[in-house]
Amino acid sequence: MKYDVKNLSLAPHGYKRILWADRQMPVLTSIRAKFKKKKPLKGYRISACLHVTTETANLMMTLKAGGADVVLCASNPLSTQDDVAASLVKDFGIPVFAKKGEDSKTYYRHIHAALAHHPQITMDDGADLVSELHREKGASNGVLGGTEETTTGVIRLRSLEKKGLLKFPIFAINDADTKHLFDNRYGTGQSTIDGIIRATNVLLSGRTFVVAGYGWCGRGLATRAKGMGAHVIVTETDDLRALEAVMDGFPVMPMKEAARLGDLFVTVTGNLKVIRREHFLAMKDGAIVANSGHFNVEVDIPVLKKIAKKRREVRDYVEEFTLPSGRKIYLLAEGRLVNLSTAEGHPASVMDMSFANQALCVENLVRSGRMLEKRVYRVPMNIDAEVARRKLQSMQVAIDRLTPEQKNYLASWELGT
Ligand code: NAI
Repeated sequence: MKYDVKNLSLAPHGYKRILWADRQMPVLTSIRAKFKKKKPLKGYRISACLHVTTETANLMMTLKAGGADVVLCASNPLSTQDDVAASLVKDFGIPVFAKKGEDSKTYYRHIHAALAHHPQITMDDGADLVSELHREKGASNGVLGGTEETTTGVIRLRSLEKKGLLKFPIFAINDADTKHLFDNRYGTGQSTIDGIIRATNVLLSGRTFVVAGYGWCGRGLATRAKGMGAHVIVTETDDLRALEAVMDGFPVMPMKEAARLGDLFVTVTGNLKVIRREHFLAMKDGAIVANSGHFNVEVDIPVLKKIAKKRREVRDYVEEFTLPSGRKIYLLAEGRLVNLSTAEGHPASVMDMSFANQALCVENLVRSGRMLEKRVYRVPMNIDAEVARRKLQSMQVAIDRLTPEQKNYLASWELGT
């Protein structure tokens, strides 16, 4: 078996952590049990490009239980958990190509190693795998379809679709309600704070915390930072989202103003150069800057490097930049998604739903992918509903069901006051 991981001797530690995550993933576990019996993915080759975490390990095991032949590479150079990569190879026989801290060349070499598996199904988080596959002539031959996990990946794939270049159907997992409403909001919200605290150990209470972007991730992050006692400021470019932030009780202002006030800054926009030269120059001494959006383009790091007269690492994943004024700015995790770089990413119980959607959509692709067009598809509503139902069941939460009379009433126009 070919693989490339940091150190196989880390496997026992990874194994324990994978099993711990599994305990928090009852929906995925129930799908795995079904897959084990029915083998719906038998003989299908899957190349997955995902954050190599304990939760992903459980998804890989689920696909393998369904009969698939799976390989995994990282979807970010800094998010790999090396102990998990080792355990997947050693304990579960799943080839992994990923090392935490790999350089860009190695990152792409690993993606190509996963593509050399000649996948019939692709699984992506950020669309790097599918983009590479689209760049290589003939590489998409035999691909039945794929899935995409995150907002930024879906945006990239929709752009391919719009230009008529998309070569196979892809399910936008991110757009399932049981994904973005929970994973992006509660998962990114909590784990981003976790990442900042693990990297810096700063007290959030009483500090001014600037959240750039009030989308699904930003809403979760702002609410959680407020809950930790921070004074939260929101920046936005969309009128509706800005209005929502105002009505949720957050001061909203342009980054130029927020830059003067913030102690901590986190970007979660999926956009580039959200924090740039004029903002760095306006920041207070000691400002901490991090990103939780998919790519490390939200903070203009090249310009920060250019204007700084001195640069040094002061803690793991904390780099100090001294500006000509003598003020210091601290950048976390090279501007890569802080929750996965300095912490463990989303809690397993929320990835349970995201990855249940992944597993069920792969099953759907095997069953009916040949009938689909070369488009980006929403996750079928029945899958989304099934994931919600199973999650509630696992939490032992029962709810009311509509009576026939109520169903009838809701479907009629005749009854008024
Ligand atoms: P979203 O589309 O719901 O929200 C993004 C928001 O940022 C929008 O309201 C948009 O108007 C705003 N925005 C765009 N440019 C801006 C700018 N220059 N200044 C201020 N606001 C701006 O997207 P979502 O789902 O919240 O995702 C955001 C990013 O986080 C994406 O890159 C996504 O892939 C990533 N993500 C990261 C996760 C993680 O584990 N760290 C998990 C899930 C998503």
